[in-house]
Amino acid sequence: MNNIDTYDFTGKKVIVRVDFNVPLNDHFEITDDTRIRAAIPTIQKIREKGGAVILMSHLGRPKNGPEDKFSLKHLLGDLSEKLGTEVQFADDCIGEQARQKANALKPGEVLLLENLRFYKEETKGDEAFAEKLAALADVYMNDAFGTAHRAHASTAVIAKFFPGDKMFGYVMSNELTSINKVLKEGERPVTAILGGAKVSGKIEIINSLLGKVDNILIGGGMMFTFIKALGGKIGN
Ligand code: 3PG
Repeated sequence: MNNIDTYDFTGKKVIVRVDFNVPLNDHFEITDDTRIRAAIPTIQKIREKGGAVILMSHLGRPKNGPEDKFSLKHLLGDLSEKLGTEVQFADDCIGEQARQKANALKPGEVLLLENLRFYKEETKGDEAFAEKLAALADVYMNDAFGTAHRAHASTAVIAKFFPGDKMFGYVMSNELTSINKVLKEGERPVTAILGGAKVSGKIEIINSLLGKVDNILIGGGMMFTFIKALGGKIGN
């Protein structure tokens, strides 16, 4: 299996699925950059090893195509500063401009594509859309752990277009190592703590954890679903 530390990225274009779904305030300033900081080692590793990086992500849940408030262009300044290089931007994730900019990328350069969810094909897992994204690069890397529970075009479907050249980035592999360590080698009892707004997206994970851990603590917005199901009273 390929791995980010051993793979030869020299002269390769690497399309990396990151999870840059970060909170922005009314001035489009990032109010929590944890996810961007987490992706930096992966991006820098590819650049150091002679590859060019094409970053793709979703931001929010746009319903009807492009919307300025969901544009990934708001992240450009912060990302460029963190990487110490000017990050280029394509205002569409597929199409002529994205193709041209990806084609022209030189080793060490970084291109950020516009929000994948401006196309409903992303969440639908559309194969033709995944193929267009795949055509931009030689290598596919999945480093979007926060979106790993979604079988979308850029997270799951695209992988088939890179039969020999796909791998995880550090965010994904570190999380998997930690989870395996706790679940397989950890001392009992093991307690899982889950948060988040949307129980619908996490119910399968909760179900899967039920047989593996001793306690599950549920916090965040989704706790209200459980309080209500248990007969409690909640607000709006
Ligand atoms: C998240 O923030 O939970 C992930 O980025 C996934 O986003 P989603 O719930 O809109 O798919």
